[in-house]
Amino acid sequence: MSRRAWRRFLRSPRAEVLVAETGGRLLGDLLLLCRVDSRKARIYSLVVAPVARGQGLGEALVVAAEQAALARGCQAVSLEVRADNLAARGLYEKHGYRPLKVLPGYYDDGADGLRLLKPLPA
Ligand SMILES: CC(C)(COP(=O)(O)OP(=O)(O)OC[C@H]1O[C@@H](n2cnc3c(N)ncnc32)[C@H](O)[C@@H]1OP(=O)(O)O)[C@@H](O)C(=O)NCCC(=O)NCCS
Repeated sequence: MSRRAWRRFLRSPRAEVLVAETGGRLLGDLLLLCRVDSRKARIYSLVVAPVARGQGLGEALVVAAEQAALARGCQAVSLEVRADNLAARGLYEKHGYRPLKVLPGYYDDGADGLRLLKPLPA
């Protein structure tokens, strides 16, 4: 994502920007979007730096995003993921996200997407 887009999201009241960092070094980030007229939040982006993968940071960011969604009164979290992204799919599956819809050719390179959804506890 461009710096400009990040700046916009950092100022947006409908966005939660969550980061994982150590000693001021950014290791991961997650962008959660919450529409005013919807009870469903959306994980728009999630990235963990390659050197920091496999240590639970992705999970920690997803759990924190769900807590932020709950605090905003959301009842579910949705997201889109590449069908061939086995790491991300494994993470979301482990945390209770289930496929809602197949999105054929959803990505620029023609790859299929999956829309996943997790209802949040009331
Ligand atoms: C997907 C991504 C965020 C995972 O982050 P991470 O910090 O490495 O993940 P975690 O260490 O928290 O792993 C949590 C779970 O995810 C799954 N997982 C993580 N990496 C995996 C891999 N390479 N293959 C399969 N499952 C994997 C496992 O279920 C794992 O649980 P386990 O350790 O008990 O097996 C990271 O690989 C990444 O940034 N990828 C590039 C960007 C991306 O694909 N973002 C998601 C877009 S929707």
